Amino acid sequence: MARIGFLGTGEIAAVLVETLAGQGHEILVSTRNADRAQDLCERFPEVRVCANKALVAGSELVVVCLLPPVARQILGSLPFRAEQRLVSVMTDISCAELATLCAPVGSVARMIPLPTLKGGQSPLACYPDHPDIRRLFAGQALILPTPDEAALNSLFVASALLLPVLDQLDAAAHWLSGRIGGERVAEQYLIRLFGSYFDRLAQDPAPGFNTVRAELNTEGGLNQTLSKRMAEAGTPEILVEGLEILMHRLKAA
Ligand SMILES: NC(=O)c1ccc[n+]([C@@H]2O[C@H](COP(=O)([O-])OP(=O)(O)OC[C@H]3O[C@@H](n4cnc5c(N)ncnc54)[C@H](OP(=O)(O)O)[C@@H]3O)[C@@H](O)[C@H]2O)c1
Repeated sequence: MARIGFLGTGEIAAVLVETLAGQGHEILVSTRNADRAQDLCERFPEVRVCANKALVAGSELVVVCLLPPVARQILGSLPFRAEQRLVSVMTDISCAELATLCAPVGSVARMIPLPTLKGGQSPLACYPDHPDIRRLFAGQALILPTPDEAALNSLFVASALLLPVLDQLDAAAHWLSGRIGGERVAEQYLIRLFGSYFDRLAQDPAPGFNTVRAELNTEGGLNQTLSKRMAEAGTPEILVEGLEILMHRLKAA
């Protein structure tokens, strides 16, 4: 049981509060985004809304769920204490910068929660390996501590694949719906198609990407033909180049 304060009551804070609710914690959320804060209060009796200073003063563990420019603007003025722990979910601010902004806070960690956290299947990468993160989310996510902060940043960057991959599925769904007469059916087909492959890839023992790719790579087959067409257009190189640009941005932060 812990007193946990969430600075920033946005999308990801709501997911974390929903995941932690019902486990005996006292939860404080920022007054900003008043409708969402109020909604969390109404749904969960352990949630209270609080101004930022009172939230930090009243928490053992502070979870920072702000956008980086806001964090840089406000964290330095909040009353952090040496015995307090801080976990940040922000991409662009390092542990060292957080420790400076939130001095004299006792410990700092970063983690990458995903909106799918509540489903129980989501990875939860963190640096460093942190007892609070293990205690709070054990059994609710696959906790993946990284050996250093650069590795955590690489996983943050890899998580940016979600929208580009969904963009491609969406483009395919539009193309398909025109031919089969229904967007919903087209989406469902693609969701089941990929869901069944991801289920298989997540099995233990997992076949691995290369095994499944080899199975799909029939000489002259539809999958191979489309894959070659996209390779010729430079798609894999553009993807890796984009990942490198993001990595550079996080390193520079
Ligand atoms: N969303 C995700 O899937 C996800 C996953 C992993 C990590 N993250 C990281 O989590 C952070 C938050 O992302 P998000 O998607 O939750 O963003 P978001 O929905 O925009 O949430 C940010 C929240 O900060 C609030 N805020 C602004 N100024 C504030 C202040 N002075 N004091 C307290 N709260 C203030 C905003 O309130 P108002 O609405 O009133 O402005 C908003 O509710 C980002 O750094 C993001 O990179 C997000």
